[in-house]
Amino acid sequence: MKKVLFVVGSLREKSFNRQLAKKAEALLEGRAEVTYLDYADLPWVNQDKEFPAPAAVARVREEITAADGLWIFTPEYNFSYPGHVKNLLDWLSRPVKPMDYGTPTCINGKKVAISGAGGKAATANCRQKLTELLEFLKADVLPLQTGIALQPECWTTDTLILTDEDQQNLAAEAEAFLKAL
Ligand SMILES: Cc1cc2nc3c(=O)[nH]c(=O)nc-3n(C[C@H](O)[C@H](O)[C@H](O)COP(=O)(O)O)c2cc1C
Repeated sequence: MKKVLFVVGSLREKSFNRQLAKKAEALLEGRAEVTYLDYADLPWVNQDKEFPAPAAVARVREEITAADGLWIFTPEYNFSYPGHVKNLLDWLSRPVKPMDYGTPTCINGKKVAISGAGGKAATANCRQKLTELLEFLKADVLPLQTGIALQPECWTTDTLILTDEDQQNLAAEAEAFLKAL
C-alpha cells in the first residue's frame, strides 16, 4: 500500500486544517497508509547548525523520504503560507552534507497534494505561493487542489463544516492523488 504523509500547516489544537486532514484520511482509508508529520519541534533554520543535522531535522527528512507522497493541509497567513511551513520546507531544501548540491534532497520529485481551509479566498493565495515554492524545490505538485472557505458557524462550534461541493472537491483530489502516486 502507498504511504502518504500528512502535513498540517497549523499548530493549534482545534485546527480546521487538521479536521480537514482527518476527512481526507477517511477518504484514503484502506487504499493508502496515512501518517502525520510531527514537525512542531523543528528548530529555526540556522546555517551554523546544519551539519550534523539536528535530530528533529534528520527524523523529518527520514519520514519524508519513506513516504510516496505528501498531502499538505494549511491555513493562509497574511496572503501566504505560515512561517513554520516555510521553515520546514527550508530545512528540506538544504544539502545533507556540506557543499553537496548534487545529491537530490528528500523533497525532490516528491508527489505533493495541497488543500487548505481559511477565509473567503479559500486559501487561494497561500496555495498559489506554496505551489511556486514546492516547484522551486522540484517537488511534483498535484494540479488539483481543494480550497475551503470556512463558514461562520465553524468559528462558533470549533467544527469544520463542509458543503457538498467541498466534499466532492476533496474526494476528487483524493482520487487524483491516489492515481498520481
Ligand atoms: C497570522 C495570521 C494571519 C492570517 N491571515 C489570513 C489570511 O491572509 N487569509 C485568510 O483567509 N485567513 C487568515 N487568517 C485566518 C486563518 O485562516 C484562520 O485562523 C484559520 O482557521 C486557521 O486555520 P486552522 O484552523 O487550521 O488553524 C490568519 C490567521 C493568522 C493567525
